[in-house]
Amino acid sequence: MAQFNICVLKGDGIGPEIVDEAIKALDKVGEKYGHTFVYDEQLIGGAAIDEYGVPLPDVTLKAAKASDSVLLGAVGGPKWDTLEPATLRPERGLLGIRKELNLFANLRPAKVWGPLAESCPLKPERLGTGLDLVVCRELTGDVYFGRKWRDEEGVGHDDMNYSVAEVERIARVAFDMAMKRSKKVTSVDKANVLETSRVWRETVKRIAAEYPEVEVDYFYVDNTAMQLVLNPSQFDVILTGNLFGDILSDEASCITGSVGMLPSASLSDTTLGMYEPIHGSAPDIAGRNIANPIATILSAAMMLRYSFGLAQEADAIEKAVETALEQGYRTGDIAKANEERISCSQMGDIIANLI
Ligand code: IPM
Ligand code: MN
Repeated sequence: MAQFNICVLKGDGIGPEIVDEAIKALDKVGEKYGHTFVYDEQLIGGAAIDEYGVPLPDVTLKAAKASDSVLLGAVGGPKWDTLEPATLRPERGLLGIRKELNLFANLRPAKVWGPLAESCPLKPERLGTGLDLVVCRELTGDVYFGRKWRDEEGVGHDDMNYSVAEVERIARVAFDMAMKRSKKVTSVDKANVLETSRVWRETVKRIAAEYPEVEVDYFYVDNTAMQLVLNPSQFDVILTGNLFGDILSDEASCITGSVGMLPSASLSDTTLGMYEPIHGSAPDIAGRNIANPIATILSAAMMLRYSFGLAQEADAIEKAVETALEQGYRTGDIAKANEERISCSQMGDIIANLI
């Protein structure tokens, strides 16, 4: 019997509600397959600011580093949006932990689930053979982590940079992933304008040569944004930088019908990863037990798969989600006007029972 220590960072807004439902699913997996999951709950984001005055306290970072993996809800909310300096805002907690844990590879799978096909905002003829892709987003570099400052004239600067080594390691993650999927990578940049993108493209080309079986396309980010809504079926693995990946993954998520369905895995070069939904803390619906917990539950499944090597258990969670959707259970974000809506905790119970 294996024991896994999970650092739990519920965060702000709907974070606590959705993480509780993912824990229900993990506990059910533990019970069925004979694993023990031990949770160490710590604060991050606005909740940490309220308690410790900073968005990423040392105790949280220490607990995360000592864990086998981190499960995160969401951070941020209007209460902390105007804090000065900006380094004290909740989002800095998230960026800080990504950097400190060296989580350079962010995988964001987006697919249209069969039972939710009608929630896809695209015309059926646009959806073609469907949407089933992974955005492989570099997560610890780019303009997110370059020097930020305001000069004497009050001009704001954000330094955008990518080193060859940073591009190489994320490219390898994408190509390795492609080998397990459809052997197709689309590398996305803005090489017609940006020097960082020229480093990106040259480096990806060099790594691509190590994977002769993988078909590679090189797209500009503006064209990619357009192609995603015109013909999303053409994509499989989208390899891109931190900023473009942030934007394109939101776009891909809404094609699936709801941002409430998309999980993510942030991986380092060890098995310690961080798993979180791609959506935010939704302060407008926090505390009302109406959020969709599926993205977080699927993030827990990714944790089992990528950090703990428990593929069968991850499959069981994903299958339970699929079955719950097939049986017609819907939270508000994925319900049609005339459909009955269930609560966040009801969805969690239903999925746990189906595992
Ligand atoms: C995400 C979020 C974060 C990001 C924010 C909250 C800092 O939008 O995980 O996509 O930009 O990376
Ligand atoms: Mn985002």
